Amino acid sequence: MIEMKTRQELTTWIKKQKQLGSTIGFVPTMGFLHEGHLSLVEQAKKKADIVVMSIFVNPLQFGEGEDYESYPRDHDRDKELADSHGVDVLFSPGVEEMYPRPMSTTLVVHEGTDVLCGQSRPGHFNGVATVVLKLLQITSADYAYFGLKDAQQVAIIQRMVEDFHLATEIIPIDIVRESDGLAKSSRNVNLNLEERQEAPEIYSCLKDASRKTQNGDFTNSTDLEDWVRLQLQKKLTGKIDYVQVLEFPSLKAPKQLEGKILLATAVYYKRARLIDNIVIEIK
Ligand code: PAJ
Repeated sequence: MIEMKTRQELTTWIKKQKQLGSTIGFVPTMGFLHEGHLSLVEQAKKKADIVVMSIFVNPLQFGEGEDYESYPRDHDRDKELADSHGVDVLFSPGVEEMYPRPMSTTLVVHEGTDVLCGQSRPGHFNGVATVVLKLLQITSADYAYFGLKDAQQVAIIQRMVEDFHLATEIIPIDIVRESDGLAKSSRNVNLNLEERQEAPEIYSCLKDASRKTQNGDFTNSTDLEDWVRLQLQKKLTGKIDYVQVLEFPSLKAPKQLEGKILLATAVYYKRARLIDNIVIEIK
């Protein structure tokens, strides 16, 4: 694996590889890698000739009072993991490299930001879209891999790619979970023992809700949301940020419980905010 820290190095190298006819699979991350990130690499390796991973904790997507400073970082460990999982190039720029001066032009996401995480993290998806556009531009990726753990991010990035006629194909990847069902996340290390013990209830509740929805137990999305909220309140000490049901990937409120439905939740703990979701296909 080669590590590159500057845009210049990466773009020059990629240009050469493209001239040789290689395709580029790109996995953008903020590091503190776990099996969720590595499953994106695994999928990229199946399809692309070269796998580029970026590790960059993007200040633009963190709001005031959010965990930019305390976001977990362990570069040496990340490097080893990326290397041993077959990443060809690790792009790990500093903030100066990605933002050499304040941006005069940034992206504003207009649709799908007034729901889910967009409500409690204003401006977050503008920061995500802006950095992802920069990264897709730098890497000239043929394919870029995003986890459905952040389903709203997938929908928003997919839409951005369409809006700007970008040549990259966005490939969504299923959520990777711990053996007890908790969705893998870099932020799970910030849970205390009790919080970690109860956190798998989130997914178990989403699964129950999915089963009940498939059985036709709920007549509309509000009933489904209310049921999930009640279950979570009973089982968790964490504070529920939202429980929301939306059409996927349009992120619009569903008129009826039919088609592809995203059931998503976020829960605040003392030092971590956990998100999880399930996509329910209703026939
Ligand atoms: P980060 O949180 O590091 O996640 C990087 C990628 O890994 C995202 O596409 C995310 O959805 C995926 N991922 C995380 N946990 C996962 C899991 N348990 N199963 C499957 N995929 C998982 O998302 C970001 O970084 C940033 O917003 C970024 C896109 C890099 C822009 O800064």
